Amino acid sequence: MRVIKSIQSLQRLIQKAKRSGESIGFVPTMGALHQGHQSLIRCCRRENKITVLSIFVNPQQFGPHEDFLRYPRPGRLDKMLAEKEKVDIIFTPTEKTMYPDGYQTTVIVGDRAQGMCGRFRPGHFQGVATVVIKLLHIVMPDRLYLGEKDAQQVAVLRQVVRDLNFPVTIRVCPTVREKDGLAMSSRNRYLSAIERNEAAVLYHALQEARFHIRQGMRNAGTILRRIRSRIQRQSSATIDYIVCVDRATLKPLVTVHGKVMLALAVRFGRTRLIDNILVNVP
Ligand code: PAJ
Repeated sequence: MRVIKSIQSLQRLIQKAKRSGESIGFVPTMGALHQGHQSLIRCCRRENKITVLSIFVNPQQFGPHEDFLRYPRPGRLDKMLAEKEKVDIIFTPTEKTMYPDGYQTTVIVGDRAQGMCGRFRPGHFQGVATVVIKLLHIVMPDRLYLGEKDAQQVAVLRQVVRDLNFPVTIRVCPTVREKDGLAMSSRNRYLSAIERNEAAVLYHALQEARFHIRQGMRNAGTILRRIRSRIQRQSSATIDYIVCVDRATLKPLVTVHGKVMLALAVRFGRTRLIDNILVNVP
């Protein structure tokens, strides 16, 4: 495994691999790696000759009062996990490398970034889109691996990649969960023991909604109220949003039909968690 900090060294390696006709898969992360990241790496390894993993806590996607400074950075553990997973190249640029003095450009994102997390985290998806486009230009992968857990991120990046004609195939991997259903996240470690227990209700409430839809419930408002009341009954979480949207466009639905996503964001104290499930309604 090569650990590379400089853009030039990485690009030299990538160009060499490309000249030999080797396919390149890319898994961008902010580190604090867990089984969710691991599943992306495994999927990438199955489908590509070379797997590139980036670890970069991107300041541009954090708001002024968010957790950029306290975001976990267990560098050595991350490298050990990557090594165990047989990652070929880890790219760990510094902030100065990604945003040198005089840096000015950002990617402006459209509709898909406005609702849901976009409402509560202004500028977040602009920051995500900017760093991912920069990383894509540096790594030039054939395939980009993203997690379904961050479904709005996937929708925004699909749009950006299409609009800016980036020649990459996006592969989306299912959400990996703890035994009790909580979606794995680098932020779960912020939770107290009580909050951690309560947090399982998020997935249970979403699953219950899926059950009601399968039983014939079609009114989105009713479904969302059920999810809300279950979370409020069984946890101390503050709800940022619960939505029922079209999976691809993220447009809110009044009546559930087609490929539907139920998504939510809640806060336990200062810890913000997101989750979503997909439901096919024929
Ligand atoms: P990060 O939160 O580290 O996530 C990196 C990738 O892992 C994302 O594509 C995310 O959706 C995926 N992932 C996280 N938890 C997962 C889970 N439980 N199951 C499956 N996949 C999961 O998302 C980011 O970093 C950043 O915004 C980034 C894209 C790297 C840009 O800075």
